[in-house]
Amino acid sequence: MREAWRCLLGLCLLACSASPASPNGPANPFAGQQTPPDPCYDDAGAARRCIPEFINAAFGKEVAVSSVCGRPTPSRSCSVVERGDERPSVRTCQICDAADPRRAHPPSYLTDLNSAHNLTCWQSENLHTSPHNVTLTLSLGKKFEITYVSLQFCSPRPESLAIYKSMDYGKSWTPYQYYSSQCRRMYNRPNKAAITKQNEQEGLCTDGHTDLYPLSGGLIAFSTLDGRPSGKDFDNSPVLQDWVTVTDIRVVFSRPQLPRELGAGGGGIGGGGRMDEDPMVPSTSLPAYFYAVGDFQVGGRCKCNGHASRCLKDKEGKLVCDCKHNTEGPECDRCKPFHYDRPWQRASAREANECLPCNCNLHARRCRFNMELYKLSGRKSGGVCMNCRHNTAGRHCHYCKEGFYRDMARPITHRRACKACDCHPVGAAGKTCNQTTGQCPCKDGVTGITCNRCAKGYQQSRSPVAPCIKIPVVNPTAMVSSSTEEPAADCESYCKPVKGNLKINMKKYCKKDYAVQVNVLDMETVGDWAKFSVNVVSVYKSRGEPLKRGDNVLWIHMKDLACKCPKIQMSKRFLVMGTSETGPGGPGAGGPGAGPGAAGAAAGAERVGLLADKNSLVIQWRDVWTRRLRKFQRKEKKGKCSKA
Ligand SMILES: *[C@@H]1O[C@H](CO)[C@@H](O)[C@H](O)[C@H]1NC(C)=O
Ligand SMILES: *[C@@H]1O[C@H](CO)[C@@H](O)[C@H](O)[C@H]1NC(C)=O
Ligand SMILES: *[C@@H]1O[C@H](CO)[C@@H](O)[C@H](O)[C@H]1NC(C)=O
Repeated sequence: MREAWRCLLGLCLLACSASPASPNGPANPFAGQQTPPDPCYDDAGAARRCIPEFINAAFGKEVAVSSVCGRPTPSRSCSVVERGDERPSVRTCQICDAADPRRAHPPSYLTDLNSAHNLTCWQSENLHTSPHNVTLTLSLGKKFEITYVSLQFCSPRPESLAIYKSMDYGKSWTPYQYYSSQCRRMYNRPNKAAITKQNEQEGLCTDGHTDLYPLSGGLIAFSTLDGRPSGKDFDNSPVLQDWVTVTDIRVVFSRPQLPRELGAGGGGIGGGGRMDEDPMVPSTSLPAYFYAVGDFQVGGRCKCNGHASRCLKDKEGKLVCDCKHNTEGPECDRCKPFHYDRPWQRASAREANECLPCNCNLHARRCRFNMELYKLSGRKSGGVCMNCRHNTAGRHCHYCKEGFYRDMARPITHRRACKACDCHPVGAAGKTCNQTTGQCPCKDGVTGITCNRCAKGYQQSRSPVAPCIKIPVVNPTAMVSSSTEEPAADCESYCKPVKGNLKINMKKYCKKDYAVQVNVLDMETVGDWAKFSVNVVSVYKSRGEPLKRGDNVLWIHMKDLACKCPKIQMSKRFLVMGTSETGPGGPGAGGPGAGPGAAGAAAGAERVGLLADKNSLVIQWRDVWTRRLRKFQRKEKKGKCSKA
């Protein structure tokens, strides 16, 4: 029944797209079967608008009323039933007793199951013994978007009544619609004002309800969108979206309708009665008046802004939307945490407008929205990650923070995508390295990715400002460094007798403590010493502690090196034959390198590795020597060296 007249009255705007299920009717026939597809997503999983079903939101809800008949004591009320034509009206009387269920008319009858066979009516107290204005207040407990408010009367329809709505749970009220035969006098509104775009969010007044006959019974129904210009484009009308949003509805019956006999009488109340006159003259000769309503309906949908297909009771029993599309809130009216890449928006028929997660490359748990960035991106992305972890930084945690660089072997989403620069506190000019290569900014003369070594041609100094200084060209006797002076003359005597005699023979082989072929890889300076990183390619002799192939260190005093005895170059292979007091594994303090210039090499104990000096044989390697050296090796084993 109710479904039928809802559309008959032209209230179809939202109602007709509703599912046919009755709000108070039988349970969903599909319940308990396999879960139906989520209406908030299409078959491909893309978000789409979804809305809760259309219901009578008043059904079963409690209505607060300012007046109920038969309380505290039973009361008698009579009504006049007009029969039309020329026949006289019939007067019927009944007893209302709130304490007797058979004679009670409680407010619960307003919102109970309404059937044509058993019309249960709420009824007010007799109006000549109480104020004429009677209020019904319905709280929906949450925002709804409503299409209509309807009242089915058991009494004559009131002469004047007002419907108010609240959007803030009853804190403030705005008029929804007035009904009165005297709009101006009762509510200070014009009768049947034209609805335009300008006033479509205002409550208007009409006297339309007084025309219908019979006066008793019948329906007053207010359609929230009917006749409102923007109703055709509801999706794009925030004004009307607001207009249909309610949390509470209040109906105020301001003035009852007087029966004809009374209205036609001296009081002159019916048609053009004066407002200042009380139409309800208490008199035993007059019939008693009251308001009675059999059904109070509020048709609409739980408001979820297109982001939920249903409303559920939460833990506290409050009705809330079952939000999808990464939204939350009682009306799905905000984006879920971390889904702030674009502003929250209501879903429309064309666009689901779901909230999108921020892109933080798995390095942040929180983000915020920035309108400027959003606009700059062409309204695509405005999320800004907060508290990027794993040493990342940036709007999307998409690069490494200062002091770290990208490990290109790992994706940016990896926990260890950023590695520490570890710039040397003395060698580097700063703590920030190149984001892609990890290269620290080195001071002059310093090299290495972390700036931990002196560059070729530089030696370590004690100054933290210039930790590596150019290797001075040394005058070994004068101990004067000069870059221009050619030290050849002094070096010549210093380097004798080895200088120029670079031949190898069995005699020399026997004299030396070790003979190895090395690949010279790198050099740094430590005090007055040059420390070469070498790779021992082969070992031909090793007195004392056995020498292993592989990485090792070759020490040469700066003085010897400056005079080029021995002469050594990077990235080349050399035959090194030298002596050592403690064996090739670790030359002792003041080892054979302690020539005139190296006399003060007291820190020799720290120099673990090979040691070469002006007396050593350091010759660029030639492959033909392999055989010769192996031969020396065999001869030595046969004891040839001790004989020599
Ligand atoms: C009419 O409705 C009332 C309230 O819902 C119920 O108590 C009563 O039994 C119903 N009467 C009939 C005849 O169905
Ligand atoms: C009825 O109207 C009077 C005067 O306007 C007002 O004071 C009173 O609060 C109203 N009562 C109800 C229940 O609305
Ligand atoms: C980082 O190193 C790369 C490769 O050498 C270079 O192209 C880039 O300019 C460097 N970046 C900075 C900021 O120096």
